[in-house]
Amino acid sequence: MESLVDAESELAQIQQQLKSQASQLQKVSLSDLLTGDTGEQRLKQLSARFAGWHLDLSKQRWQPETLKVLADWADARGLDEHRQKLFAGAIVNPSERRPALHTVLRWPQEQPAPEGCEKAVAFAQQQRGRMASLVQKVRSGQWRGLLGQPVRDVIHIGVGGSDLGPRLVSDALQETHHQGEVEVHFVSTMDATQLVPLMRKLDPATTLVVLASKSFTTADTQFNLNTALTWLASSLDVSIRAVCERHLIGVSARPEKMTEFGIPEAHQLVFAEGVGGRFSLWSPIGISLAMQIGMPAFNELLAGAHAMDRHFLEAPTTENLPALLALVGAWNCQWLGIPSHAVLPYDGRLECLPDYLQQLEMESNGKSVDINGQGVDHPTCPILWGDVGPNAQHAFYQLLHQGSHTVSADFIAVRRRHRHAAEGLQESLRDQQQLTLANCLAQAQLMALGDDAIPPSLRDHMARGYRGNQPNSLLLVDELTPWSLGALLAMYEHKVFVHSVLWGLNPFDQPGVELGKLLAQGIYRALSNGQTNSSDQVKDPSTDAMISLVTS
Ligand code: F6P
Repeated sequence: MESLVDAESELAQIQQQLKSQASQLQKVSLSDLLTGDTGEQRLKQLSARFAGWHLDLSKQRWQPETLKVLADWADARGLDEHRQKLFAGAIVNPSERRPALHTVLRWPQEQPAPEGCEKAVAFAQQQRGRMASLVQKVRSGQWRGLLGQPVRDVIHIGVGGSDLGPRLVSDALQETHHQGEVEVHFVSTMDATQLVPLMRKLDPATTLVVLASKSFTTADTQFNLNTALTWLASSLDVSIRAVCERHLIGVSARPEKMTEFGIPEAHQLVFAEGVGGRFSLWSPIGISLAMQIGMPAFNELLAGAHAMDRHFLEAPTTENLPALLALVGAWNCQWLGIPSHAVLPYDGRLECLPDYLQQLEMESNGKSVDINGQGVDHPTCPILWGDVGPNAQHAFYQLLHQGSHTVSADFIAVRRRHRHAAEGLQESLRDQQQLTLANCLAQAQLMALGDDAIPPSLRDHMARGYRGNQPNSLLLVDELTPWSLGALLAMYEHKVFVHSVLWGLNPFDQPGVELGKLLAQGIYRALSNGQTNSSDQVKDPSTDAMISLVTS
């Protein structure tokens, strides 16, 4: 009892220190922090490196002492104990009574499984083996459709976590790892926007559908699947059942539902219920991606993520990349009161990263009730948004530099690119890469320093009013490879986990998305029956009027 009281008073003391540091630092400009005498020292103390990723946190509105107190905060919140539980497969998602098994999915075959996770590791590896043989079958042309032709195109149907991860990695590695055996197309929106053009251009005889859905009940995915199968059946002049047998692979945590649907067992891949949707890229949900980049590259992605897992487990907090990202994120959001965070990749291959991180962070920690069901009395996950930096410079950077809102940001850049481009193109592509990096560094500096970034030679002519003081981090890597990308994504996954520990949240459920789906079902039934209102819908004049308008 006494030790509980001690722990609580220690936590209260740390929080008090953070509060007072925040109020002091609110008065100091980043420009002073960065360009003062201690600038270089600061850079050393506020940067870290792992797995080829260099993280510069010196453009954040904090001091090395702040980091120390934040690390104490993480300690006092029991980060180590929580982390051990995560990796040991303990129940860390109490509302659904589940572990969170994403780290198990990338556990290397040659290493003994962590204690408590032996079965989960064996199952994940067995399914990965089955996935590898399906990938090989498709890529080698052994898989034949109903007309006896090999697969040329794969339509990956999924949404949220069953779409964003594979899509992100597929885009990111298209330039370096697309080997041309099969073309993968991603379909997620329930309105068939992506599906319609595919049905116009693809040859049904050489098209394979991958249905990726953890629950196998998500309406968006089921409706897209229904349309795709109907298209295949009518174009090939066969039954839907026949299409299911030869043109469909299912990936889900619910094998019984796949069987009921008519997917042969040999074409089903399964992952554990304990793998959260937004953490499922590493499971057979990645099969379409693996068909595009090949199994060796997919395994490298897992290896990069595993290396980051180890780093997260073993490195001290002040050198631990995921922990550092989380501490500075929580500092900005909770202690400095900055509610908005932009993700700005300076590499078009990472175009999907902001969308991916939106789900990862906001679906995990977008909560104001803690893991014990109590309301929290401080801000939690910030609003996360962003775009490819160079394009965003011509869109929303005006607001970052001169708007009225404080926004924190992650700049993400890759040092070397286009190394294997055709000889005649090398030079111009190298120039483009340098231009991109120059813009990244310039924008990060300008966000931090504001008017103080205006070079002396321009001071007399340049209009002022650059607000500066917008804290930002820079993540720089030598090359974008499956390995470094795996490490990056695992880094963000663990950042989210650390946030959940700091804020006392359950990051592995998402109860807030359920009611909207249910209400839509009611309205859908009304619309399908041509009724002007839904019998089980709460009445409000606006929704009722709109239903009438839609059905009229
Ligand atoms: O609506 C939220 C959600 O449940 C996500 O968490 C999930 O990634 C997505 O829907 C898709 O779910 P499923 O993979 O079960 O189709």
